[in-house]
Amino acid sequence: MAPRRQDSGGKRPGAARSGSVMNFRTTVSSGSVRRSSAVLPSVLTFLVIVASGGLLLMIEKGMLNSLDTPPPRGSGRRLDSMRQPGKHSSAAVDVESQILQEIRNRTIRTMCSQKNMPHSIWSLSPLQRKTLLQHVLVNDEYHFLYCYVPKVACSNWKRVLKVLNGALESVDVNIKMDHRSDLLFLSSLKPEEIRYRLKHYFKFMFVREPMERLLSAYRNKFGEIESYQKKYGVEIIKRYRKGRAKDSSVRGDDVTFAEFVRYLLDEDVERMNEHWMPVYNLCQPCAVSYDFIGSYEHLESDAEFVLQRIGAPPYVHFPERQTWYKPVTTETLHYYLCSLPQKLLRELLPKYILDFSLFTYPLPNTTTEHCRH
Ligand SMILES: *[C@@H]1O[C@H](CO)[C@@H](O)[C@H](O)[C@H]1NC(C)=O
Ligand SMILES: *[C@@H]1O[C@H](CO)[C@@H](O)[C@H](O)[C@H]1NC(C)=O
Repeated sequence: MAPRRQDSGGKRPGAARSGSVMNFRTTVSSGSVRRSSAVLPSVLTFLVIVASGGLLLMIEKGMLNSLDTPPPRGSGRRLDSMRQPGKHSSAAVDVESQILQEIRNRTIRTMCSQKNMPHSIWSLSPLQRKTLLQHVLVNDEYHFLYCYVPKVACSNWKRVLKVLNGALESVDVNIKMDHRSDLLFLSSLKPEEIRYRLKHYFKFMFVREPMERLLSAYRNKFGEIESYQKKYGVEIIKRYRKGRAKDSSVRGDDVTFAEFVRYLLDEDVERMNEHWMPVYNLCQPCAVSYDFIGSYEHLESDAEFVLQRIGAPPYVHFPERQTWYKPVTTETLHYYLCSLPQKLLRELLPKYILDFSLFTYPLPNTTTEHCRH
């Protein structure tokens, strides 16, 4: 993904530990909790309140598997209208993702109806709105808006958009993705044009387990991309590595995950690079009422659903995973999270708490007991 100009590569001394936690705090708690690690309990309390309103936030696979009748209501999903019937996964997966959709839908509605949450893009701050509009892609022929989230299959969606607008012959054309060209962003439209499209178009986005997305960004950017090593890596090492070598010899290519997390803790979520900015801040799911929020965990079937829903022609399919793609496995994630000092993790989770709670991902289990395995 190309580096973007909007982010602040540098230091922001005063901005530490605010962001989504701040948002959340102003929404749900009037207490005077200062430090983010201390905010977590109140967030959990809130989740319990939401849960007691009939919502099951922390769903477990086992529970879903034991259900056999899908509730026929709600979120616009159905089992019978796949464009290629039979091609896609078993009914069990469909049931699971339908229930997930329903829970996610109701959670978002409940949490976004809180008084202090934004209810329209015009009530966002100029910076928040700018970030959002720069992440929403427009297709006027098929009447949809797609909020792209880096590290959640966004290159593949951009390919699909380019095929739909005729800029690319097929999603499988073997070229390096240009993340700007031949794409229309909401940010380049006038307010009334934006208003019209938000009101009438089909709006969707995709989400992913927050820590998995972070790890994926870390491994890709600091492991492979020199411009990121230079821009962020050098800075991170200078700030957080004790007894580092002389400045001129810092290459920024060996940032550890713990150093990366320390850096995240000191960054303002609203000014982060888009690869690690919380999805909440990129796509503003309270200010924009998305019609569909797909999961990376059900990428194929959710993408197929969207393509069908927007009326994409049958030759347009969602690209297969690239052969060079290195997935973040459960084991890898477990390894990285468990090797992080507990204190860092306790401070990190609140920064991404809205991504966990709105999109209904359970918080990772990093008890010593669990990490021993
Ligand atoms: C939530 O459910 C409503 C009502 O069924 C539907 O119109 C909306 O598209 C759903 N939103 C999401 C994000 O699934
Ligand atoms: C975390 O994992 C441990 C060991 O696997 C388990 O005993 C504990 O109940 C888990 N805690 C949560 C909150 O899931």
